[in-house]
Amino acid sequence: MMNIRIATDLDRDDIKRIYSSAFPKGESEIVTKLAIELLAEKTTPSTIPLIAETNNFVVGHVTFSPVGIESNESCQAYILAPLAVQPGYQKRRIGSKLIEYGMQQLLAIGGNIVFVYGDPKYYGRFGFNAGAARNYTAPYKLQYPFGWQAVVLNEYILEKAPVAINCVASLCDPKLW
Ligand SMILES: CC(C)(COP(=O)(O)OP(=O)(O)OC[C@H]1O[C@@H](n2cnc3c(N)ncnc32)[C@H](O)[C@@H]1OP(=O)(O)O)[C@@H](O)C(=O)NCCC(=O)NCCS
Repeated sequence: MMNIRIATDLDRDDIKRIYSSAFPKGESEIVTKLAIELLAEKTTPSTIPLIAETNNFVVGHVTFSPVGIESNESCQAYILAPLAVQPGYQKRRIGSKLIEYGMQQLLAIGGNIVFVYGDPKYYGRFGFNAGAARNYTAPYKLQYPFGWQAVVLNEYILEKAPVAINCVASLCDPKLW
């Protein structure tokens, strides 16, 4: 039986374990650091770190953090990062459920748009697409521009000309982009 809940400081070691085993060496250090820093970061609105557990064993983690959109303070934007599922528990829809759960929470609190920087083959199934993200300029130059995507939640008019977005401090590391 799988359960999803908000992550707390007590989940640090489990989160480290998931990221160090799910990502290859070299990448895992950077993403683990991000997941742990985001857990401690105080933001307004709040960051939403989620844990998936089966039989009290933590098997997945995702964080949604707020994003500021230059010249549009009324837009409530978030970014999904990072996401990982413990090897051995992958391909059982745990990642999907973490994403869907988080998006439902954001929808309920009036979130307008969610960004993600990742594989379109994976995130496309949740409605993420490059078109929705086109006029939002990421804080750093993207190594894989095709990975920059967004999905609109509560109705919202997309920017017609490029605007810059700002992320929380933990995401302000060019190595992540
Ligand atoms: C990517 C990841 C989070 C997916 O979690 P998961 O619980 O295994 O995913 P799900 O079971 O919900 O997958 C749903 C579908 O996506 C597919 N999928 C998984 N990873 C994929 C990928 N990288 N590219 C394309 N499709 C993928 C699965 O095969 C599955 O397809 P199906 O429904 O047709 O069987 C997990 O595999 C993982 O931690 N990978 C290593 C870390 C990583 O790459 N994180 C992504 C950071 S952007």
